[in-house]
Amino acid sequence: MSSTFHVRGGHTLDGEITVRGAKNLVSKAMVAALLGEQPSVLRSVPDIRDVQIVGELLKVHGVKVERDVESGVIRMDPSAVEKAHVADIDAHAGSSRIPILFCGPLLHRLGEAIIPDLGGCRIGDRPINYHLDVLRSFGAVVDKREMGIYITAPDGLHGANIHLEYPSVGATEQVLLTAVRAEGVTELTNAAVEPEIEDLIAVLQKMGAIISVQTDRTIIIEGADTLGGYEHVAIPDRMEAGSWACAALVTKGSVFVRGAQQKPMATFLNTFRKIGGGIDISEEGIRFYHPGTPLKAIAVETDVHPGLMTDWQQPLVVALTQADGISIVHETVYENRLGFTSALNDMGAHIQVYRECLGGSSCRFGRRNFNHSAVISGPKTLHGAEITVPDLRGGFSYLIAALGAEGISAIHGIDLIDRGYEQFREKLTALGAEFWED
Ligand code: EPU
Repeated sequence: MSSTFHVRGGHTLDGEITVRGAKNLVSKAMVAALLGEQPSVLRSVPDIRDVQIVGELLKVHGVKVERDVESGVIRMDPSAVEKAHVADIDAHAGSSRIPILFCGPLLHRLGEAIIPDLGGCRIGDRPINYHLDVLRSFGAVVDKREMGIYITAPDGLHGANIHLEYPSVGATEQVLLTAVRAEGVTELTNAAVEPEIEDLIAVLQKMGAIISVQTDRTIIIEGADTLGGYEHVAIPDRMEAGSWACAALVTKGSVFVRGAQQKPMATFLNTFRKIGGGIDISEEGIRFYHPGTPLKAIAVETDVHPGLMTDWQQPLVVALTQADGISIVHETVYENRLGFTSALNDMGAHIQVYRECLGGSSCRFGRRNFNHSAVISGPKTLHGAEITVPDLRGGFSYLIAALGAEGISAIHGIDLIDRGYEQFREKLTALGAEFWED
């Protein structure tokens, strides 16, 4: 049984924390190391559980992984890649969706890949149909068996013309990680172009891949027979930075996020300012603060990059409970990412969710019975409550709410936050939060 995390709210968060590499790049760059003939070195790797999971999965496939947690350097030598036992993959993969991205590299290296049941955050169904369709386009054969999904490529993997019906981040990465060593040229249209994907492309280019991204979100990849290793510094985690920014706002504080970068966060920074939050941008990082004047209600919708990232939505919703007036948030990436709001209501927030597409354009979830729009009336005083972490971003949002609330909150399942927020306990202490675990 994991411990209960108690937070006494009402302390202003004040001080400085550092963000290192982005969870959603680091895990993919680690998978990319499988494609090389030589070792790869990744820097600015955060101390989070997802990194540990991918490291273990690489190890069960024969990759030698050396990690120095403190300096954030990880060295991966794939010269002895080998088939793994299903039980070993299952034992390490259970809580992550990353194994699906091992498919292309493993097909190139070993001719087969096995995907056990996938975990990850429970935000909607999170299907893998795009991934399997992509693999089939390259010539892979997908066989659903009792132990999981068994994938082979009896005639090798060949470049393909692929169109994504939705610009999925994972499916785009699947194409990149498979196409770089497929025979011939691959053209991917309606690709996702998140900064983490651009950074993965930079990693693959360092390994010798030829990849061009066109202005209409078409990506052209020329397959190569062999790839080398890479040395790379991971792009900083803009989701983590945005989460701490919202914590500063909700606790009426000021947090300097060392490592936060302006360009990948441009849309978040615009939204933060529209709410009334203060920002000071420098080369070293960004200071986020409450300016002392009332926060303003806004209407926003999440979208693929360069739109407002869905991972910022949950922390922003907590901030909007403190804004003056009615805010509207339309979630267009996941059909079921507003469930966390009911616990906020138990804490005193006033948030109603709707099936309709509110506050923006119609999305693919309209008229499909998903509560994917929220109307938030504020400002409301939050009070401590007993809450259970539903998923990674929802969990951190509860933490933000508890920090801003009057009284004590008891949060269950806090360990889930370790999946993506490096040393958040130490960071909370550095910022002056009051909490304890039992
Ligand atoms: N989708 C399908 N079929 C698929 C794949 C996706 O229908 O085969 C749908 C999803 O259900 C969702 C939409 O497409 O409605 C977008 O999903 P996407 O594939 O873009 O998401 P992902 O690759 O599974 C990554 C991040 C998420 C982040 C999303 C969107 C990682 C490990 N995860 O997920 O991050 O929210 O992109 O930007 O990179 C998080 O960090 O907490 C997190 C959930």
